[in-house]
Amino acid sequence: MKERIESLLAEVQNFGSKTATEIEAFRIEMLGKKGQITALFNEFRELPGDQKRIFGKTLNELKNLAAERVQALKEATEEQTVQNSGLDLSRPANFSQLGSRHPVNLVKNEIVSIFKRIGFSVSAGPEIEDDWHNFTALNFPEEHPARDMQDTFFVGREPDWALRTHTSSVQVRVMENEQPPIRTISPGRVFRNEAISARSHCFFHQVEGLYIDKDVSFADLKQTLLFFAQEFFGPETKIRLRPSYFPFTEPSAEMDVYWGLENERDYRMTKGTGWLEVLGCGMVDPNVLKNNGIDPEVYSGFAFGIGVERIALHRFQIPDIRMLFENDLRFLEQFKAAH
Ligand code: PHE
Repeated sequence: MKERIESLLAEVQNFGSKTATEIEAFRIEMLGKKGQITALFNEFRELPGDQKRIFGKTLNELKNLAAERVQALKEATEEQTVQNSGLDLSRPANFSQLGSRHPVNLVKNEIVSIFKRIGFSVSAGPEIEDDWHNFTALNFPEEHPARDMQDTFFVGREPDWALRTHTSSVQVRVMENEQPPIRTISPGRVFRNEAISARSHCFFHQVEGLYIDKDVSFADLKQTLLFFAQEFFGPETKIRLRPSYFPFTEPSAEMDVYWGLENERDYRMTKGTGWLEVLGCGMVDPNVLKNNGIDPEVYSGFAFGIGVERIALHRFQIPDIRMLFENDLRFLEQFKAAH
């Protein structure tokens, strides 16, 4: 045993490989489960007591030496690898770039939070819709021009599937699944087959709202929208409602907020009227309630649809809607402070 310990000692002391695989192989050869030093320990356990005293110490020294040697060589090769890789460890760390919220999301989040504060839930639905949810359930007559190929992106050859043209489709889904009282807003992206210009895009975002309960009147609609306008545009904000038409509401209206008419920019933005068009709204048509299993004799409701981009363009004085979707960082980084 003495000779074997000595020869292994010499082998450990002479071992000087620089490659990680060789060092690992050496470790297994010596200290692994079937390694030579391990084998010596197994034999040692069988020795009579007086012999144990003689070899115990040297055997332990051999083991420690081997372990230290392997460790030292490993560290040396790792250092070598770092040096060869060309890494400069003295360089200061890179700072990660902080992103910012998109202006469309800033405005959308603010609208959503205003309605959440007065008890509206948030609902979501699919962007690809069938004819029923996007049109028929909402009282669009068969021949209504909004169903025309001009306005709607159809998906596949079947005219039944299309990209939703408004998030009113989400509200149909809510009415299918819930009985009144219903108070929900549906934020989301919508698509229309329109020519892209500085003022309109083929996709944009809406926050549509729906309120159905007993005895809901036009006064409730007006008061809710006034609250929204004053929360969003400021406490002094004035609104006006102009008669309009939507297949799913009767009566229908457009809501304007008073923007002012002080300079040339105000003239341009408000087409010389001082009023900004902000949303469409109205009392839910009884046919829509009926289509969705809600009794119009018992319940009534109002609905509204806000265009997010239009408000974002005004709020941030963005001259061209296309800038919102070009993902140009020089543009997007300007909204860092707007959170
Ligand atoms: N869905 C309408 C649109 O997309 C907006 C709207 C919603 C109008 C609810 C009235 C009531 O233009």
